[in-house]
Amino acid sequence: MNAAKSVLSKVDLTGKTALVVGGTAGIGQGIAIQLAQLNANVVLAGRNAKAAQDIIKGFPNSNSHSFEKVDFSLLKDTRRFANEVKQKYKHVDYLVITAGIMRMTGRQETEEGIDDKMAVHYYSRARLILDLIPAMKKGSRVLSVLAAAQGSLVTETDFDLKNSYSVYNASQACPLYNDLLVDKLSTLYPDVVFFHALPGMVKTNLIEGLPWYLRIPTKLMTPFATTIEDCGAYMCSGFLAPERSSGYYLLGPKGEVVEKLKVHTDELRDKVYQHTLDLID
Ligand SMILES: NC(=O)c1ccc[n+]([C@@H]2O[C@H](COP(=O)([O-])OP(=O)(O)OC[C@H]3O[C@@H](n4cnc5c(N)ncnc54)[C@H](OP(=O)(O)O)[C@@H]3O)[C@@H](O)[C@H]2O)c1
Repeated sequence: MNAAKSVLSKVDLTGKTALVVGGTAGIGQGIAIQLAQLNANVVLAGRNAKAAQDIIKGFPNSNSHSFEKVDFSLLKDTRRFANEVKQKYKHVDYLVITAGIMRMTGRQETEEGIDDKMAVHYYSRARLILDLIPAMKKGSRVLSVLAAAQGSLVTETDFDLKNSYSVYNASQACPLYNDLLVDKLSTLYPDVVFFHALPGMVKTNLIEGLPWYLRIPTKLMTPFATTIEDCGAYMCSGFLAPERSSGYYLLGPKGEVVEKLKVHTDELRDKVYQHTLDLID
């Protein structure tokens, strides 16, 4: 933690706007707390307005922060949200996305024909980043929190797992796609710095979506899990480190840079990106 604190002691985000999608709970809340302590104007986004208001009350300068509603399982709502953010805030200096779902049930298609978990963990992330790029200036940073360098390639013929869906397959595909996305976007938008992080085990309510026989053993592990505040400090130290000022980075639980997977090639990156554009447009 000392290394993280040392990095953060050199960062001052006064006058900067930081949007945290998933900031209404868990890891996003921990990152938002840290960003507010670094003097950013924080915009929390999610579905739960009451949770956001309670969190904002605990921030320093609580009048400089706000909440915006979004249902990230729907691309159309993500687009509406992005447009509203652009109109209202003009610039987004830091975009953090942590929105997530833990559920063991099978594919649940939204009205847009996408599995809702894949929408929240990948497709809406891609949609939002692309829609907000015009509101980002040189030096802006984007952090997606899911599971950097932890995925694997399930199939090259059914990227959205329409016919190959399982909870396991989705849990492998979305982390890999996030790795590939930050890589691709860094080549297309060199003024912005892109990060994908693995937070490690963090004490949040994410596991409440699990059936009891998985939830109880997982809860027994929580004494060993990181608090949201510490996780927020680690994630912020990783993505705000001044020397990480161009390109893309995959981060581990302490904010350290981790190696990309062997399957992460330029060819696969470009294929998954083309698939993503086809689907989210
Ligand atoms: N906790 C861990 O140990 C751990 C480990 C590895 C990876 N991760 C990943 O880290 C991310 C954050 O996890 P967490 O533990 O912080 O989860 P969490 O405590 O359950 O928080 C999830 C957040 O996602 C938001 N969210 C969920 N569905 C949404 C939707 N349809 N639209 C908008 N927002 C939505 C929730 O906001 P609203 O309820 O307000 O919508 C909430 O703010 C997830 O992607 C998770 O897979 C977590």
